[in-house]
Amino acid sequence: MKHLIKNKNIIIGVCGGIAAYKSVELLRLLKKQDANVRVIMTRNARAFVGSLTFEALSGQPVWTSLFEERNDAAIRHIDWAREADAVVIAPATANMIGKLAGGIADDALTTVMLAVTSPVLLCPSMNTHMYENRAVQRNLEILRRDGYYILEPGSGELACGTTGPGRLPEPEIILDRLISYLCPKDLKDKQVLVTAGPTQEPFDPVRFISNPSSGKMGFSVAKAAEQRGGKVTLITGPSHLSDPLNVTVIRVQTADEMAHSVFTHMEDAQIIIKTAAVSDFKPKKEVRHKIKKGDSAITIETQKTQDILKELGRKKKNQVLVGFAAETEKLEQNAAQKLVEKNLDMIAANLLGNPGSGFGEDTNKVTLIYKDGRKEVLPQMTKDEIAHILLDRILELGKSSRESGD
Ligand SMILES: Cc1cc2nc3c(=O)[nH]c(=O)nc-3n(C[C@H](O)[C@H](O)[C@H](O)COP(=O)(O)O)c2cc1C
Repeated sequence: MKHLIKNKNIIIGVCGGIAAYKSVELLRLLKKQDANVRVIMTRNARAFVGSLTFEALSGQPVWTSLFEERNDAAIRHIDWAREADAVVIAPATANMIGKLAGGIADDALTTVMLAVTSPVLLCPSMNTHMYENRAVQRNLEILRRDGYYILEPGSGELACGTTGPGRLPEPEIILDRLISYLCPKDLKDKQVLVTAGPTQEPFDPVRFISNPSSGKMGFSVAKAAEQRGGKVTLITGPSHLSDPLNVTVIRVQTADEMAHSVFTHMEDAQIIIKTAAVSDFKPKKEVRHKIKKGDSAITIETQKTQDILKELGRKKKNQVLVGFAAETEKLEQNAAQKLVEKNLDMIAANLLGNPGSGFGEDTNKVTLIYKDGRKEVLPQMTKDEIAHILLDRILELGKSSRESGD
């Protein structure tokens, strides 16, 4: 992900809304991705947050007034607009939305906005009644038609006490959307099927066999594929993660349910990425009532679940099939064997028990192994970054197989 935003020139516009403090965190996230960030605040925004924090975090002076005295002779609103790779206005007030819809340019931010030609993401945030006001909705419609990207506000209890839409989405979500506008749309028209999470195999109504998979890797892959223009279906076992935007999410519990759902959707997909940690075993029988504690221990007899990946490998036709292998020993040997046995095109192998890698972590350290025996050791990086690299490699695989006529 970092490579998509590194060294990009991003302008953050901050308006006078209650959520202005959240744009500090957005700036921090962007700087973490090594983006060059410039901040323009409206005069009213300065009543909500000081410019010093933005200056310290961005390493650049914050701009508010078009006519402030400076030593250079540059026409700053034109230079900044020309140099911007993207602009995000967060929070975008009702006032700012109205001004942009009307083409008004009476301060630094609105003037730059008329000169900008790069993608612009507006993040409206305000009281629910203000947001639902006809004038605001009419203005947003005008801006949508004018080519602005609008991030729908979240719903919930707002600072002003009302409940409904109007809340500024979390900075992580704003960053994800921004990245999607900067991403190449190289998965456009591609159907991508992703599986994620653990499965749960109940043996009574309150107990089950499972594993600690959080679903993070698969959710990152689904999100990245959507950002790159793919039509994505994510089939996930139980996970606390929320649905990635614009992704069709199917939530299942057991290995049998996952198998059924995967086989129903596999036909349509050109790319299948299976990150789910499906239980290899399930109880032979599930009792309908909670097993009482009693005096003695119980023995649960198990049977094997269906091997979904192997079945996918058997059934696949002109599809790119990618699996994951989490191993506790002999990583590459076990992963390479799985690649062959399951007829995969690529496998991402990671060694469990390493700090910063594996179940529940935000980062992972994987080795990619290809059908032709090639191997690529990736350094530890975030699961979002791994997801994008995985998609890069999948596209390369698709390209080389077309070239070789496979
Ligand atoms: C305490 C307070 C909170 C406000 N919060 C918001 C808000 O969340 N969203 C909004 O659109 N306007 C909000 N306003 C109104 C704007 O500050 C006002 O419309 C202002 O003109 C916006 O200026 P700007 O768009 O140039 O930043 C708030 C005003 C006050 C006094």
